[in-house]
Amino acid sequence: MIANIAVLVSGGGTNLQALIDAQNSGVLKHGKIKLVVSDKPEVYALTRANEAKIENLVIYKNELGKEEFEFQLQQILVKHNIDFIVLAGFLCILSKNFTDSWQNKIINIHPSLIPAFCGEGFYGLKVHEAALQRGVKLSGATVHFVNDVPDGGPIILQKAIKVKKTDTAEKLQKRIMKEAEWKLLPQAAELISKQIVKEKSSVLKQNN
Ligand code: GRF
Repeated sequence: MIANIAVLVSGGGTNLQALIDAQNSGVLKHGKIKLVVSDKPEVYALTRANEAKIENLVIYKNELGKEEFEFQLQQILVKHNIDFIVLAGFLCILSKNFTDSWQNKIINIHPSLIPAFCGEGFYGLKVHEAALQRGVKLSGATVHFVNDVPDGGPIILQKAIKVKKTDTAEKLQKRIMKEAEWKLLPQAAELISKQIVKEKSSVLKQNN
């Protein structure tokens, strides 16, 4: 019994790579990445999926618009019997309609200690620029459930990283990705997968 995972991406895919590596090393034991979906073409995350022989496709959100994008996304998720979704550097805000239909079944990695430096407009380097600007001594990463509020869902895991006097936004981003994001996301994916496998097997027992 395994949890079927879909990973949504928009860029370089380093967090996807962390999930792939965790699957290969046995850290992600109860889940399997069955599908990678990007909202735009020619992103390196798709190359990573191909190299890992994971089915992947583009749903052209800019051309289709949000509603059609989510409609096509839902169809492909159902077709692949997906149990939960991981947003890994995915830059679109999903609608309330969509997140409600996947309540507590979508997780996201955000590069700060939520509730700091999160929400509308806080993504990528902007997060770390704001942290340095504010002069925080600690930043880090958060994995949380996704609802209709950007970065607003229940927090699952966090890891704090010390901010150094010599940090630039780029240096801080790299260290937080390497020491926090790429560790937390696989851990969270395994936690959710284990929970889903437990649910699936108890349903099976009830039906037999
Ligand atoms: C990074 O800023 C990461 O913190 C956030 O999305 C960006 C790109 O991630 N989650 P990835 O390399 O595409 O996974």
